Amino acid sequence: MKILVTGGSGYIGSHTCVELLNSGYEVVVMDNLCNSSEESLNRVKQITGKDLAFYKADITDRDAFKKIFSEHKIDAVIHFAGLKAVGESCEKPIEYYFNNVAGTVIMCDEMRKAGVKNIVFSSSATVYGKPKTVPIKEDFPLSTTNPYGATKLMIENILTDIHTADKEWNVILLRYFNPIGAHESGLIGEDPNGIPNNLLPYVSKVAIGQLPFVNVWGNDYETKDGTGVRDYIHVVDLAVGHIRAVEKLKENPGRKVYNLGTGNGYSVLEIIENFSKACGKDVPYKIAPRRPGDIDVCYADASLAKEELGWEAKFGIDKMCEDLWRWQSKNPNGYK
Ligand code: NAD
Ligand code: UD1
Repeated sequence: MKILVTGGSGYIGSHTCVELLNSGYEVVVMDNLCNSSEESLNRVKQITGKDLAFYKADITDRDAFKKIFSEHKIDAVIHFAGLKAVGESCEKPIEYYFNNVAGTVIMCDEMRKAGVKNIVFSSSATVYGKPKTVPIKEDFPLSTTNPYGATKLMIENILTDIHTADKEWNVILLRYFNPIGAHESGLIGEDPNGIPNNLLPYVSKVAIGQLPFVNVWGNDYETKDGTGVRDYIHVVDLAVGHIRAVEKLKENPGRKVYNLGTGNGYSVLEIIENFSKACGKDVPYKIAPRRPGDIDVCYADASLAKEELGWEAKFGIDKMCEDLWRWQSKNPNGYK
């Protein structure tokens, strides 16, 4: 089977390419490199000893899809390409809606013309808004609080409508919790531009000495130690979840939605403690005011993915921190 991976040189995409190639799939990557480097794909080839096809192209470019679909017989698309910074999405909503939503509509139109009607989409736990209870199940009410989250929910709805109108389409929506860590080779990992927003990339930049301390955004939440609790999942576990989803597509499942998380919640202080253990030094931090828009607790009920995809997360928090530290210390400046 040949899979088109949009956004395939990014953080989750590159890890998924490794798992696809190791599972015997042929891979075609399309990425405009706006938030990644082609070097990640060289590393994917180095890890797997296998080749893949790469197109530097934008998902809003119809001709690029025409070229790819005429040069390859694609069986399914895994759609990672998108902009993902919450704060930036509030400042640049037009760019986010155009890139993520319009880009996906253009892609689906070109997929339809080429007769490619299988898609796995990168959604996010952000579509649950502020959940009333945890663990979060797939049938919980959906809402969003920022343009980034809105693009995820809109794309979920668009893909659902496409399936409703044409039952030949198989649509699998994967709602990720908080992906962290890196491939255990230390060759690929997350390489954020500028100062990271997410906790783990920030912690690892403090540990390597590029930032002075971690701001812990609030210690007055209703949680075990007052700091925010999240469901951190190893990026390799997440990547394997995509392989299971692609396998599911072969059953013509229609439209499905799955949480990909571990079901365990860790607080910010627990993460800092675990990361300090992994890197062998204390990571300094200061308690700071709450970050606007943050929720207190978020973790998944991932039992549906276990039941229907035969998938469950294998790696614990220790390995997530160790693998992230290996990537960070071997590549202090990312792919540069
Ligand atoms: P990433 O930025 O590393 O990867 C996204 C890739 O898409 C990048 O390589 C970027 O260059 C590419 N891209 C962006 N716009 C494009 C366009 N118009 N045309 C072609 N390529 C384009 O991010 P990631 O963390 O790997 O996330 C992958 C997907 O998963 C995204 O859709 C993101 O919203 C979603 N997601 C990520 C997280 C997370 O915490 N990392 C959580 C939930 C969902
Ligand atoms: C963020 C996004 C969310 C997205 C998710 C995964 C926001 C408001 N939300 O969520 O839409 O789906 O990433 O990409 O940006 N923290 C600190 N100090 C830091 C950074 C984070 O204390 O420097 C805390 C946060 O308050 C939170 C936890 O660490 O409690 C995790 O934060 P983060 O990694 O940004 O992920 P989310 O808040 O889950």
